[in-house]
Parts: sequence; structure tokens; C-alpha cells
Amino acid sequence: MAKKYTVLETWIVNEMKPEESNSAEQTYERMQQQAAGKLPVIDVEQNFREEDHFCDEARVRDFAAHLAGAETVLDIGPGDGWPLLRIAPFFKSATGIDPSQKRIDTCQANADKLTITNVTLKKMSATEMDFEDNTFGAVAAAGSIEQCPDPYLALREVFRVLKPGGKFRVEFEAYDKQEKGITERLFLTETEESLGYHYVLRHQQPPWERNYLVKFKVDPETRDAFKKLADLTSRLGSIPTQNPELGLQFLEANQTAIIGSSWYELEHFTSATMKQTLEEVGFVNVRIAWSAATLARTMWPRIKESGLSDEQTKDMLRGLAEIAVKLDAPAGLGEPVVAVKPSEGFKG
Ligand SMILES: C[S@@+](CC[C@H](N)C(=O)[O-])C[C@H]1O[C@@H](n2cnc3c(N)ncnc32)[C@H](O)[C@@H]1O
Repeated sequence: MAKKYTVLETWIVNEMKPEESNSAEQTYERMQQQAAGKLPVIDVEQNFREEDHFCDEARVRDFAAHLAGAETVLDIGPGDGWPLLRIAPFFKSATGIDPSQKRIDTCQANADKLTITNVTLKKMSATEMDFEDNTFGAVAAAGSIEQCPDPYLALREVFRVLKPGGKFRVEFEAYDKQEKGITERLFLTETEESLGYHYVLRHQQPPWERNYLVKFKVDPETRDAFKKLADLTSRLGSIPTQNPELGLQFLEANQTAIIGSSWYELEHFTSATMKQTLEEVGFVNVRIAWSAATLARTMWPRIKESGLSDEQTKDMLRGLAEIAVKLDAPAGLGEPVVAVKPSEGFKG
């Protein structure tokens, strides 16, 4: 951690001596639901009168179009099931791996609810996959490679388990457009064992993110303090430096209730660095491609009042995705990256 520390993290590091952790254990294992329980189809009924549902369907069609031709697909870190459960119908079999047991259980419950039967889930890290070389015809990842402790290792593993000629499509939380300097935010979680105070710092150039978790015991008094803190963040926002009562003042006032702490750091990507890294790993035909969702969003104002039926909307988005597959996007916009594992005998 040889990077500049904020006052709040200096306090956490000096007073709490946090243990090193990772995103699956520290963050995703503690979340009740992802995407605030609003994933179309998975959590809530699909409604094409909502822009986000329209664009979500475009993203699904985009994965399906890019990975078409494969019988088997692996989704890295599907969380509660995205895109795994949405793209499974386009393949003979679909496998999802996630190191968080909570996410695996939630994803399995969602698959059961949707009666999707060609999905297999395994608790596993992308950095150490328990699959033979050349197992899958296609690999998908959305917002997960950058959550791995070592994204480069995860990408090498993706390369290893893909069949020659297999395609990889990766979406990621792009740092192309992040605000300059350090940004920070606070969020709260609760499990049976602890109340969680999460402090997140992001830095654009070089792109990294540091996460801290300070765990408090669950008792009525501390729960009350957390409730007040949640009310404060909904009124003041979640930036501790701007509002010390959200940061140091809160931690010092409730210090006796602290039962542990941990931290982890992430390396983030821009579309250009993801492309470059995939090339280093050995992928070919590596391209930054327009996401059909980006194109769908620009169309939305013209489409929303068109009166298309759900089936017509899906057809149109399928067509849009087939066009998007062929369109290169410029670097700097955080669009997804697609790549191919060279076939045997591939030269140059
Ligand atoms: C931002 S969420 C994205 C979830 C889902 N793909 C989506 O788009 O809604 C990141 C996911 O990556 C998973 N993850 C974290 N570390 C991982 C690792 N080493 N290997 C595979 N997945 C990992 C997390 O548990 C979490 O489910």
C-alpha cells in the first residue's frame, strides 16, 4: 500500500491494523442482493417501457451475438446471475464461477426460480480455475475480472480454459471516464455477525481502488448508531471528507464496538489497457467493440413511444447486436473488449 493515504484510511490502518482480504470475501459475501435487487428478468419483470430494461436486453443480445457458434459458455463472476442466467438459453450448457458462496447460492436460487436447467455453478476463483485446458467454447465476464486479486492471472486462466478459436467478451467497470484525483464513498452492510462500515477510495491515473471494511458488533446501541449514519448519508451524501460526522467522528465515537477490519485493493482497466492486456496474454483479433447497449441508449428517445411489442423490441435489439458485433469503438469510452484464442496452427 505505498500510495497516498487519506486521513480516514490512515486512522483505519493505524488504529485497526486491517487484515488483507479480497472483494468476494469483504464485499460480495456481505451483500444481500446485487444491482439493488433490480435486475430485469432475474429480480423484476422485464418492462420495455423502462430505458434500463431496454438497454439490458441489448447487452444480453450483444453477449449472445459475440459468442454465437459456441455450445458451452463460462461466465466469470455472475454474482446474482448476470449475464449467466440471461445468456444460458443461447447455449447448450452454461457454467458460472464465483468465489462468494452467498452469490453462488443466490444465483442458483434465481436459476431455479426461472426454471433454467442448463446452468452449473461452482464456487471458484477466476485466478485458479479447476477446469481442464480448452474446456469452453466461449467465455463472458461482466464487472468481475477487475474484482479479482490478480486480473492478469484471471485473464491467463480464461485463455487456458477457452478452446482454440473460442471467443471472450469482457465488460468491466471502465476507468476511462472516472473523475480526476481520488474519489471516496461510504456504504454500509449487515450480516448476522457484524455491521459493516465500508470505505472505498478510487484513483483514476493509474486506475486503482482501495476498499476498507470496519466491522462492528451487532447490538441495539450500534445498530441505532448505524441507522443514524444511514440517515445522515441519505441527507448529506456518502463522502466522509466533506462530512466528518460520516468519517472519523463516527469511527471514534463507536470505537469500542469495533470487532475487526480488513482491506483489499483492485487494479482497474480502461478499454485500451484491457485490449493491451488481452494481447499480452496471447489473444488475437482483440477489439474494442461498441456495446449494443450504448447504441440502444442513443436510440431510446426515438423508440420509447414507438408502440413496439415486446417480441418486436427483442427482434430489433437482436438485429442491433448483430450490427454492434462488427463495429469497432474508439478507445477512451469504456466500451467492452472482445478477443479470440488463436486456433491451432494460427500464425502471427
Ligand atoms: C461487480 S460484481 C458483478 C456481478 C455480475 N457479473 C453483474 O454484472 O451483475 C463482481 C462479481 O465478481 C465476483 N468475483 C470477485 N472475485 C472474483 C474472482 N477471483 N473470480 C471470479 N469472480 C470474482 C464477485 O463475487 C461478484 O459476484
